[in-house]
Amino acid sequence: MSFPYQIRSVDQYKAAYEQSVRDPEGFWSSIASTFQWQKPWEKTLEWDFKKPTIKWFAGGKLNITENCLDRHLDKLGNQPAIIWEPNDPEEHHRVLTYRDLYNKVVQFANVLKNNDVKKGDRVCIYMGMVPELAIAVLASARIGAIHSVVFGGFSAQSIADRLQDAQARFVITCDGAFRGNKEIPLKSVIDDALVQCPFVERVIVLTRTRTPVSMIKGRDTWWEDEIKKVETQGSPDCPAEVMDAEDMLFILYTSGSTGKPKGVVHTCGGYMVYTNYSFVNVFQYQPGDIHFCTADIGWITGHSYIVYGPLSAGVTSVLFEGVPTWPDAGRFWDIVDKYKVTILYTAPTAIRSLMGFGLEPVQRHDLSSLKVLGTVGEPINEEAWHWYDEHIGKRKCPIVDTWWQTETGGILISNLAGVTPAKPSFATLPLPGIQPILVDENGKEVAGNGVSGNLCIKFPWPGMLRTTYGDHERCRQNYFATYDNLYFTGDGCLRDEEGNYRITGRVDDVLNVSGHRIGTAEVENAINMHTGVVESAVVGYPHDIKGQGIYAFVIFQGNMQDEKLVRLDIASTVSRIIGPIAKPDKIQFVSGLPKTRSGKIMRRILRKIAEGETDKLGDTTTLLDPGVVEEIKNGKL
Ligand code: PRX
Repeated sequence: MSFPYQIRSVDQYKAAYEQSVRDPEGFWSSIASTFQWQKPWEKTLEWDFKKPTIKWFAGGKLNITENCLDRHLDKLGNQPAIIWEPNDPEEHHRVLTYRDLYNKVVQFANVLKNNDVKKGDRVCIYMGMVPELAIAVLASARIGAIHSVVFGGFSAQSIADRLQDAQARFVITCDGAFRGNKEIPLKSVIDDALVQCPFVERVIVLTRTRTPVSMIKGRDTWWEDEIKKVETQGSPDCPAEVMDAEDMLFILYTSGSTGKPKGVVHTCGGYMVYTNYSFVNVFQYQPGDIHFCTADIGWITGHSYIVYGPLSAGVTSVLFEGVPTWPDAGRFWDIVDKYKVTILYTAPTAIRSLMGFGLEPVQRHDLSSLKVLGTVGEPINEEAWHWYDEHIGKRKCPIVDTWWQTETGGILISNLAGVTPAKPSFATLPLPGIQPILVDENGKEVAGNGVSGNLCIKFPWPGMLRTTYGDHERCRQNYFATYDNLYFTGDGCLRDEEGNYRITGRVDDVLNVSGHRIGTAEVENAINMHTGVVESAVVGYPHDIKGQGIYAFVIFQGNMQDEKLVRLDIASTVSRIIGPIAKPDKIQFVSGLPKTRSGKIMRRILRKIAEGETDKLGDTTTLLDPGVVEEIKNGKL
């Protein structure tokens, strides 16, 4: 495939950027017109951030799977679409060509239809990283069902919350998943979740680990049996459902500063255009590239840069089931070597963790196929950046530091590999079509260069969220109400003298642990579920590998005979309620929390204590009981 909108020089970047601001509709419609539409759109853009209403390509009809699969069959039918590397390197890998993937998607789309899944129905997908996860996602999109993928590390309670919020009547899962030396009993977790979700009618279970599972008559069915049924029905075809550009494509739950995770909604047309456009430009994709994004499809990075972006561009994408450190810390490099990966996209936390194993696992492998390196999910520190550059890229691969969010659908700020300059720890410049703005607390623009502020975007782009599922007001409140007429990202940001952006981290009560977003309120609610806990407050602190660690201050009134055991109990309560990723790294027992006279916890003070900056606590005179601060300082872990 060729991409007329691929930017190949700094001058082209400048010209495209200028056009995208002067004539956004012209800019985006010329890109969108290169895709396969069943009917052209009537209006390129309609928007009002106050409501918010955002419509791209309204009236246009399409199906994203025709763009990811059907349109490639003639020329790329025999090219691998997905190379699947299993958890265990001894197990044989699998290659699915575009033709194979198309056949399997169509087949499973028919399975969904046989099970009465219809356009607009929500389908929850809770699976390990197997090709069938991508197949289930695409099959849902094929028939117009809305997928809601839940990361395989979330607990039964988290799944139940998401199923209830989306009122999903269908679940697709595996018996279990292999991750390193662990086996995750996915179906059993689903069974626990479903105790609270009697509205779920059908659970389709793929065999992966062949661990014993309960199969409930009338509700549960094996993936393999369902495939056999379609095979005997004979029709290998499944015409793509006609979707409006603004019909929902998927829901993906993500944490905010308050309440339970919210279901970010992306729609068919804009998301398709944006993921492809950003993929092709940021990574400077060239035919023949082998793209390896190490994220899980359970997160937005996997949705946009394993499934939709790469497949719509006709790329060969590596899908890896396992973890970077098993059987040893050379696993990523082994995969790069084995498949001659050209584009590697991973998270700073993975780089930092692998740095700790020294160079031997790297030097064992030939990494000369690599052309482009990328990072995502959190700020990358300079040390990790240089290690990545020197030891993985051998100083010949541009590194793209890509800033974006679940809500943005795709990368908004990043250098374009080898085209616009990189700067360690800076995401650098916005993609053409993206108009960032920095504002102070009062929403006043912080203009010029060499300044800091809160990062907002002032003009819509096709990949942005449209709503939060079932609660549009929450979407308005969260993203569009803080500052008038702006989308607020929740991130703090610095703009250097040359206009490069550096994202400094969240300015709200959201943590970023190993690149995963976790709300402090969510973790506190989970800790407070423990019988002995009276109250808790959670903050982040700098963590060498995870970026941020979770520090919990807990008032405990239960039996405290064995402090270590109580800590483990609290951690396992959090694990049960949210999932292992939200377990606190440190739990400090305190007799009180620093509160204002109106009862509000002063997190600023707790954050400083957790960060070890106890001499910079600022004004504590407004506290109800300033004495409590001394006690907390003295007990710091
Ligand atoms: O704080 C920013 C951080 O991750 C947040 C978005 O998290 P999530 O929706 O889970 O999506 C992660 C993958 C896109 C942002 O608000 N973040 C993401 N990328 C970067 C980053 N912080 C600094 N630099 C980045 N490149």
